[in-house]
Amino acid sequence: MTEYLVGPESDIAEGGRKVVACGETEIGIFRVKGELLAWHNSCPHRQGPICQGRIYPRVVEPLDERGEVRTLAYDETTQHLVCPWHGYEFNLQTGRGQGGRGSLRRARLKLEEGQIYVLL
Ligand code: FES
Repeated sequence: MTEYLVGPESDIAEGGRKVVACGETEIGIFRVKGELLAWHNSCPHRQGPICQGRIYPRVVEPLDERGEVRTLAYDETTQHLVCPWHGYEFNLQTGRGQGGRGSLRRARLKLEEGQIYVLL
């Protein structure tokens, strides 16, 4: 296993990210709800740079009293990462793709003396 120094933990604010090269591999590190998460920068669809995609709250379709969808809304408690190539969406915290579209590959992190390391 190889350790790659990313930098100070304080560099990644809530809602922020940093994409780094770890040898031949790119890793995206995100801070979501205070937690640092790391994903390989390769979309399971066609290996697009998923970690450089936009982050949006999950879109939901609330039902009205007749059980019909009249509008769209955002679920602000769940953040999605949207692939910049073809728009596949992944839960930023779990890595799970929406609609059974695969999952992101998690990378291990180590925090030591305020520094972030990726372990590959
Ligand atoms: S490569 Fe990500 S959606 Fe196609």
